This record gives sequence, C-alpha cells and structure tokens, in this order.
Amino acid sequence: MYILAIESSCDETSMSIIKDGIEEICTVTNTQIDIHKKFGGVVPEVASRSHIENVTIVLDELLERSGFTIDMIDAIGVTYGPGLIGSLMIGLQCAKTISLVTGKPLIPVHHIAGHIYANNLEKRLEFPLIALVVSGGHTDLVYMKEDYSFKRIGSTLDDAVGEAYDKVAKVCGLEYPGGPKVDKLAKLGKDTYDLPYPLDDDSYNFSFSGIKSAVVNLVHNEEQRGNKIRVNDMCTSFQNRVVNVITKKTIRALKEYNCNNLVLAGGVAANSYLREELTKACKDNNINFSYPRMAYCTDNGAMIGAAAYYAYKKGIMADLTLNAVAVETLYNE
Ligand code: KG4
Ligand code: ZN
Repeated sequence: MYILAIESSCDETSMSIIKDGIEEICTVTNTQIDIHKKFGGVVPEVASRSHIENVTIVLDELLERSGFTIDMIDAIGVTYGPGLIGSLMIGLQCAKTISLVTGKPLIPVHHIAGHIYANNLEKRLEFPLIALVVSGGHTDLVYMKEDYSFKRIGSTLDDAVGEAYDKVAKVCGLEYPGGPKVDKLAKLGKDTYDLPYPLDDDSYNFSFSGIKSAVVNLVHNEEQRGNKIRVNDMCTSFQNRVVNVITKKTIRALKEYNCNNLVLAGGVAANSYLREELTKACKDNNINFSYPRMAYCTDNGAMIGAAAYYAYKKGIMADLTLNAVAVETLYNE
C-alpha cells in the first residue's frame, strides 16, 4: 500500500510516499527556519503564507523525484493536528483536494502518532512499549500495548522540553532554533550553575518552567551587574538536569508498566546527550531502545505516512469534513 503523506503543522512543508508503513520511497521537505530566524521563533501568519507558496512545489517535486503519479497512490495521510491552525489547514486542504479528485481514502494523522511511528521506519515497533515524546510542543510518556493504541501516563504541566531549550538558548543569545545549539555547546561546558532540578518527584509528569525561569533570572541578574554568563557552562548545567530527570522517570515507567521496549520521539529526540543517557540506562536495565534517525526527528512527511498506514489498518479514516485542530489529544485509552 502506497501512502502519500503530508505534514504542515509548523514550519516545515513536507511530503512523502511511504510503502506499507515501513519503507520510505521518497520525501521532499521545505523548511522555513531561515525565514523565522530573524524573528527568534515561528511566526504563525508567516508560516501559513509560506506553506501556501510551497505546497504545490513540494508535491510536484515529490512526484518528479519518486517517478510516481497520483494514480499510483492508494491513500492520502495528513496531519490534522495539533499545530498552528493556519499551517495545518494548508496541508489538509491539499490532502482533501487530492482525495476529492481521485476518490482515494483520506487518513487523519495525529502529529504525535507521527513522531512515534518515525521509529517504525527504522525497525518494526515491538509491544508493549513506552514512547518518550519530547518536542517543541510536547513532553509525554505514552504506554502502547499494541499498534495505534496510546495511553498517556505522564505529561508536562507547563512548558514542553523543546520550548524550554529554545527559551534558554534565546536568553543566552543563541539563534533559533536553540535546542541543537544548546546540545552542541553543552558538550564544551562544565556543570557549574546551581539550577533547580525540574520536578524531580514520584510522578510521571514534567515541569520545565522552573528551571527555565531560573536560567532567565540568572542571566538577567548577571547582566545587571555588568557580567556575562558562561554560555557553555549554562548549557551543560541546564541540559544535565533536564536529561537526568527525563531519563529517571522514563526508566521508572518502563519498569512499572513491565515494558522492555522504549522508543524516543519528537524534535528533542535529536538531542545527543538524551540519546546517550537513555542508551546507557536501557543497557543497564535490559531494555530495547530505539530512536529515529536525525532526519525523522524533526517534523517530516515520512513519519506521517508511517503512522497513517497503522491508522488505516485500525479503520481510522476521514471524509471531506475533516478539520484542522490546534490542540487535540491523541490518547485513546
Ligand atoms: O518535533 P519538532 O520538530 O516540532 C514540534 O512538533 O514541536 O521539535 C522541534 C523542537 C525545537 O524546540 C528544537 O529546539 C528541538 O526540537 N530540538 C532539540 C534538538 N534538535 C531539535 N532540542 C535539543 N537538542 C537537540 N539536538
Ligand atoms: Zn513535531
């Protein structure tokens, strides 16, 4: 089964053709990072306009590069939420139009399901599993007993982890998107700043606003005294605490839910220290650990095609009344 998948929830217009939920035939992505850089973050109205400009160009290029025609596609998978409403609507409109013209099934895909199923493009998911979803909009621990069954067991109470990375980066004078830069500079620094650990308790929830505010206050206090902070050390101190707590809670969840399988998902899955620490902890606890390759960590059409296949197998389909939703929970248990 060949699925044409469309993702446009934030600042990437990305389309893929995916075979049977596991094989990537071709992906074309247009990223708007350079456009949003000068604003220090994604500007929703600018993002939707850019999706409008790019949507047909990306589709044409996908068909040209893959050698596929629309007739060769069996179904269309599309991100319907959560995300920026204007951005989502462009991809959704494109998918609905193709479905209307060709009569092929339309499969609605939740963005987070996409991030989780990015792992399926590397290696078939094994169940039961715990998915650690870490992105610019989410920080969730999810229990999956089988394909396309999602039970959230913990979540952030305030900021998403990627959001905290980006904010810390910004206050340290690093360019958007700051997460990858904090990751890089943390390797060069020392853990010298006495920051609070983020919600280091017995729950599976997370909270990053405390540590984020501590960094912001520290930077501002030093600035007022005419001092500069040691950016590398700040990145190390921040990242150590964040990764430490996330790793600890994830391993505890795996044990409590009797799972031998952990998958990492979302943009922050690209973080080298998080991967390293989870790899070590999983090895010590005999847990199979997988994470997507770098290209599948940040938003992409391939992950949406991977998820769409399993949604379709569960009978999840939509008609042309399908609407974009900014906030929507994935969890069906
Ligand atoms: O999944 P994604 O592309 O978009 C959302 O669905 O939110 O994630 C983007 C987030 C941004 O906050 C970005 O700074 C963060 O992922 N990110 C990283 C790294 N690479 C991307 N954060 C920490 N370390 C990284 N290496
Ligand atoms: Zn995402």
